[in-house]
Parts: sequence; structure tokens; C-alpha cells
Amino acid sequence: MTPALAIAPRGRQSDTVAKAPRHLLKVGDLDAAEITAVLDLAEQLKATRAVDQLQMLRGRTLAMLFEKPSLRTRVSFEAGMTQLGGHAIVASAADFMVGKRETPEDAARVLSRYVDAVMVRTHAHGPLERFAAAATVPVINGLSAEHHPCQALADILTIKEKLGHLSGIKVCYVGDARNNVAVSLLDACSLMGAQVTFACPPSLRPNLSGRHKRNARAFTSPVRAIADADVVYTDIWVSMGEEALTERRMAELLPYTVDEELMSHAAPRAIFMHCLPAHRGEEMTEGVLEGEQSVVFDQAENRLHVQKALLLYLLTDTTRIPLA
Ligand code: CP
Ligand code: NVA
Repeated sequence: MTPALAIAPRGRQSDTVAKAPRHLLKVGDLDAAEITAVLDLAEQLKATRAVDQLQMLRGRTLAMLFEKPSLRTRVSFEAGMTQLGGHAIVASAADFMVGKRETPEDAARVLSRYVDAVMVRTHAHGPLERFAAAATVPVINGLSAEHHPCQALADILTIKEKLGHLSGIKVCYVGDARNNVAVSLLDACSLMGAQVTFACPPSLRPNLSGRHKRNARAFTSPVRAIADADVVYTDIWVSMGEEALTERRMAELLPYTVDEELMSHAAPRAIFMHCLPAHRGEEMTEGVLEGEQSVVFDQAENRLHVQKALLLYLLTDTTRIPLA
């Protein structure tokens, strides 16, 4: 008898007809239609009782490898797997460093024999690409120095929920415009038709390639960048792994604190977003983080929903998921 919630596996080592696994190492690994499908699925999962989801990844295992600390990514992936009836295993830097104890290729080939998908939080992006190229199961980037695609998916889900749509929305990112969160936010907004302005010092300007030139601009003046923004977004000034740059970053970014005065130049109903963790008194004031425009905890919650949708998208035939 076919189980009521039968879902066909994708890309497992044991598949009779082995297909190349899909990975999410950066936002651009999905196209706009695929992102829309993941966001729609996330909205459906969010609106569905958890008890009705327990068969969806039953018997599936996710390995989560962390070379850097994490609260949201770790717990939301693990809770997500549990809610979908699967299981997550964590290995931290003591057990695993991409390319340090063994080559990324060897580690990927071994793990592909144990689990159905691997999530990796790491430093440089290059070894992660090598790891994914050798893996025969989906690999998800849970943050590298260059990209944070899971965060960006949760960010655009939140913008869509709060503002109703993404196309034409004006997002202003204030702070270190070269970091992983900024890069992935720009990629996601570009794909989904949102405009992005950056407020940053010249030393931290984003690398705006040809495909971003139509929808993105960088300003040194925070007031000019934020004018009429629908979304104001910031992140910590010193990303994990860059601690040696702390003193310089504090000096460079001091004029870029998002405070109540700066927020007053955004659209009147603008929302304030932050990937968290937040450093009150640095990238934003306590008043902005805790204020009425802040949606940061709804945004953090959406990590759970969007990653569940992503896991289903990468591991199953989502057309067979019996959601409304
Ligand atoms: N936003 C985010 O990725 O949080 P963690 O570092 O706690 O996982
Ligand atoms: N840019 C930050 C994001 C943390 C979620 C970092 O890499 O530390």
C-alpha cells in the first residue's frame, strides 16, 4: 500500500537512477521560479499543523557541520528536521573542519553514504564548493564568509509577509555591505525584482556586478541611501572570523548606526530587519531594535519555515506533498 504522504526521494546514493543532487551554496543556485516555490511551500508549512508534517521526511537524516558558532541556524534546522519526522546530527569544529583533517572531497564522499543531506557553516567558500562537488546528497550552505542563502530566503519571506510582495520594494542595507548577509540579500532581491540601496563607507562598498547595476546603488550618505526605503536592514559590523578587524570596523561604521533619526528618513511604514545576533548600541540602537517597526523576531522565526521548505524542495518531489 502506498503511504498517504509518500514523497519520492531526490539524489540519494541508493537511488536506482542516480540524479545529480541539488545544492544551495548561494542564492543564485535557485532561479526566481524555484525561490517562489520554496517561499510558497514555507507559507503553507507555516499554516499547517506540525503533527500533519511528521511523515514528510520520515527516516531522513541531516548532518550539520559547524566551524563557527550558531544559535538560529543550528536550532531551526534541527527543529525543522524533527518537525518533518527526520533527524539531525551535529558535528562541531572539534570533529570537522572543511579541508583541515581530510580533504573536503573525502569528507563529502563519506558523509554522502551516511546521511540524506549536509548543512555546512564554514569560513572560506571555496572548500565548501569542493565539498559540494564531491557530495552525492544535497549540500546547504548554513553561512560561509561570502554567502548566507538560508538567511536571505527567510528575509525575503518576511518582506513578502509584511509588505505583501517583493517586486518594486526598496530595501536599504546599512553597514558592512560586503559581508555574507548583504551579498545574499542583494542576490535574493535582484532575483525577485526588489531594489537595493547600500549605506556604507567607501572601504566597504558592495561589489555590484553587471546584473546588479539595474537594481542596486551604494551611497556613502546613510540619509540618501535610506530615503523612502520600505525595508531597513543591518547586520553586525564584525562578522565571525574577522575579529582582528574589530577596531577598524568600529571606526569606519560609527556613522552608520541605525537610530531613530535615520529611520525617520525611511518610508513611514518601513520595517526594520536584522539577521541576529544584534549588538545594541553599534549597528542599531536599542530603540530601533525593540521599536514598533522592528520585525526581527518574525524574521528569525521564518528561518525555521523556509528551511523546512528548502529541505523538502531539495530532498523530495514537492509536487507530491499534500498541502493545500
Ligand atoms: N542569523 C543567523 O544565522 O544566526 P546564527 O548565527 O545564530 O545561526
Ligand atoms: N555577518 C554575520 C552574520 C551572522 C549570522 C557573520 O558572518 O558573523
